[in-house]
Amino acid sequence: MNRPHTTQQPEPDSTTTQQDREEESVYRALEGYYRAGKAPWDTGVTPPELVDLIEGPGTLPPGRALELGCGTGTNATYLARHGWEVTAVDLIDSAVGQAREKAEAAGVAVRLLHGDATRLDELDVPGPFDLFFDLSCYCGIPLHRRDAYAAGLTHRAAPGARLLMFGYGPEPLGNPVPEVTSWAAGVTADELRTRFPGWELLDVTPGTNSVPTFWFTLHRNARL
Ligand SMILES: C[S@@+](CC[C@H](N)C(=O)[O-])C[C@H]1O[C@@H](n2cnc3c(N)ncnc32)[C@H](O)[C@@H]1O
Repeated sequence: MNRPHTTQQPEPDSTTTQQDREEESVYRALEGYYRAGKAPWDTGVTPPELVDLIEGPGTLPPGRALELGCGTGTNATYLARHGWEVTAVDLIDSAVGQAREKAEAAGVAVRLLHGDATRLDELDVPGPFDLFFDLSCYCGIPLHRRDAYAAGLTHRAAPGARLLMFGYGPEPLGNPVPEVTSWAAGVTADELRTRFPGWELLDVTPGTNSVPTFWFTLHRNARL
């Protein structure tokens, strides 16, 4: 095959291209779930693990909360109803729109932002936050974006901040969207320990699902 007579052509960056493709696949899959109607995870019910943190015996005093991957806003609205100043982010515009309607219907103020939880610097989300909540967002984020997610939260964490995260373990669903390879990775305690330096993994509680799921509680070291 004849090629242009130059040695100056840059080699295509196959790694970047593959990573871009993966992010695009995740976006398309998520957007498709919302476009199809009610997304399978959208129960409209606040999980007891969050209720316990906010209303239970060791309850946190209301402060500033950031929800990552808020979907249609059930939990952002719940937190706002309990006195928290809430910012919530989701990658899919239509989910954010529904979240806005839900907060309005409940008569609470929630700052709802359409954007990427791994690129918080591109959003107006200065923090600091006392609580981060993630219900099944991180475990679906491509592996190459997860350090950026962790750095974004760390940068915005108040001393002693809490991160409550629910996630699927590795490959429990047999990966419903095979081209999204990161969905098979899920999330593990070891991964969080590695990716969140300066945080302590306080608790790992198995979820009640029929496949391996976990509730992780992390605490930002107050001295850092
Ligand atoms: C499994 S759903 C859970 C939604 C919501 N937390 C709930 O429980 O109803 C994951 C959510 O995270 C969002 N998401 C995934 N990747 C994201 C990212 N990089 N930034 C922001 N949101 C993201 C998706 O659009 C989706 O709404």
